[in-house]
Amino acid sequence: MDSIQKYILQKIAERKREGNFRSLKLIEGKVDLTSNDYLGIARDKDFQVMVDAEIQRNQKLLGSTGSRLLSGNSAYAEALEKQIATFHSSEAALIFNSGFDANYGLLSTLPYKGDTIIYDELVHASIHDGIKASRADRVSFRHNDVADLKAKLATAKGLIYVVTETLFSMDGDTPPLREIADLCMDFGAGLIVDEAHATGVIGEKGAGLVNHLGLESHCLARIHTFSKALGAHGAVVLCSAELRDFLINYCRPFIFSTALPFHSLAAVSCVYQYFPKLDDRRRQLAHLISVFKTSISNDPNLHILPSDSPIQSVIIKGNEDIKRVAALLQDAGFDARPILSPTVAKGTERIRIGLHSFNTEEEIVRLADAIHIFVQAKLQSV
Ligand SMILES: Cc1ncc(COP(=O)(O)O)c(C=O)c1O
Repeated sequence: MDSIQKYILQKIAERKREGNFRSLKLIEGKVDLTSNDYLGIARDKDFQVMVDAEIQRNQKLLGSTGSRLLSGNSAYAEALEKQIATFHSSEAALIFNSGFDANYGLLSTLPYKGDTIIYDELVHASIHDGIKASRADRVSFRHNDVADLKAKLATAKGLIYVVTETLFSMDGDTPPLREIADLCMDFGAGLIVDEAHATGVIGEKGAGLVNHLGLESHCLARIHTFSKALGAHGAVVLCSAELRDFLINYCRPFIFSTALPFHSLAAVSCVYQYFPKLDDRRRQLAHLISVFKTSISNDPNLHILPSDSPIQSVIIKGNEDIKRVAALLQDAGFDARPILSPTVAKGTERIRIGLHSFNTEEEIVRLADAIHIFVQAKLQSV
């Protein structure tokens, strides 16, 4: 026990030394520039009333009481999967307990020994971990670089899987999806796309980038999370009926975990009736994104990653400096968090700003001013 305790203390000290020690924080009463609640659904009182009524009407048990393969299945869950599949123009859908589970489950289960997974270098941790847990060979391609993807496809062995996101969670940009889909067709590769941050935000009715570009038939699987703009919890894999059967039979995070409880399913069912109608909020969000970009763009000393999405990243190198900016922003009343290395590559430490339809223009202009002031002060101090 003593040596285990010593190891734990050493690892904690390592994090503190490197300036990237994480701790849980309670932050209230500040302007939200951190959450993924892009459309304000998680805090929407009308929506909460709708979910409460749905729960009152249908709930039989508090917990789901088992895995979907045992007592945790329900007619409600199956109907919900059909509703979501239809909405996203997919043949079938399978609900997972989280986006992490869906990515990890799919990628650790489907690609096998002798196969190759080619993935964008900036994909989410859940995709990385799923890929690592599979027995397939793996190789990354440079972020959004179609030529590099093509070179990797040309040397890939076995069944080939290509994995990317449709709205990157840290950089806020979108991939050249049509070109990637065409390449996958040419090489007979299966395209898997994570639509976590695009869901609710991109495309007509917020159905995601794949729907927006009409690429449904080009995708082997799509992962939509309910946890970002949809303000709920859980995720779905959209795929063929056969792949759904395959996952039900082989995917360990699906098989060996208790299914989502009824109140989570009710929230998801309600949100799929709700978010497609929120065009006014999507328009307001687009307006606020352009206000932010205009307010911040007139400072040549600032490095802002190119993004037209609610995720805007201001790069300020070094864990210590980025923590200092975040502290200043907190003092000015903003909940904006620093993203440290190694979560992002060294030298690309950043303030990741999540914009929301409920933020105000005044808040956004004030935020841009606060960032300018920090950068000016830093320039004067060197
Ligand atoms: C791109 C991406 N995929 C998957 C996930 C995991 O989703 P969830 O939070 O529902 O587990 C996240 C969450 O941060 C994400 O950013």
